[in-house]
Amino acid sequence: MNVKPIGIFDSGVGGTSIWREIHALMPHEDTIYLADSKNAPYGQRSREEIIKLSVKNTELLLKKGCKLIVVACNTATTNAISHLRQKYDVPFIGIEPAIKPAALNSGTGTVGVLATRGTLSSSLFLKTSKDHAGEINIVEREGAGLVPLIEAGKLNSSETRQLLIGYIKPMLEANMDHIVLGCTHYPYLIPVLREILPPHVNIIDCGAAVARQTQAVLKKSNLQNPKKSPGNIQFFTNNDIEIFTSFLEDDDNLKQISYLDF
Ligand code: DGL
Repeated sequence: MNVKPIGIFDSGVGGTSIWREIHALMPHEDTIYLADSKNAPYGQRSREEIIKLSVKNTELLLKKGCKLIVVACNTATTNAISHLRQKYDVPFIGIEPAIKPAALNSGTGTVGVLATRGTLSSSLFLKTSKDHAGEINIVEREGAGLVPLIEAGKLNSSETRQLLIGYIKPMLEANMDHIVLGCTHYPYLIPVLREILPPHVNIIDCGAAVARQTQAVLKKSNLQNPKKSPGNIQFFTNNDIEIFTSFLEDDDNLKQISYLDF
């Protein structure tokens, strides 16, 4: 048993989609979330830069006493998690595009993957897609420009919509029936995506699976918080606090959101 907080980081607001699942599943756990929006998008950066930023975020979370770290970013997971696991003693949970469940459930045999350049070019992603290459046709597209628009709070702008329509077109032409959201920012685009996509296309977002995995690892490592009262929730952003807050307005009012230069 361990009363220390769970640390979570992302290049910005996207990982709050994972925080929400973790908090829903384990409301009594304390959580600390770092939004490194100042350095977003990670997806356009080199592997070395992504590792450096992931180390910076991890060290801050460790300084704040975190017992486990959730890398709530596909780009940071696919480029940096093995480095982090080697360097630090705490358990790390990551997220990568959920090709497997999409492949298992696809009837047409074609699955679309929308992710950042950093994720699509990573060796971890290449390996996962190769593992499924025999069974399904994967149509991948880099969601260039989407993360900055989401970071600016422009979820439903015509620019966002036009970009999405363009990225999805080749996937639909190839007859996909599942689209994997390979970036934790993209679940915020689900309402727009639902309007653009034909109803038979399933959207795969594995935030809930990451929360279940976090719970399983806490249990296995005997790190669960035994308290029954609601957890203490802290968010830190190194960019616009108002935009960040707008992503969490409907959530628990026990949360604290602060600006921090990290
Ligand atoms: N949320 C990050 C991910 O899951 C966004 C990447 C970025 O900053 O480009 O990949």
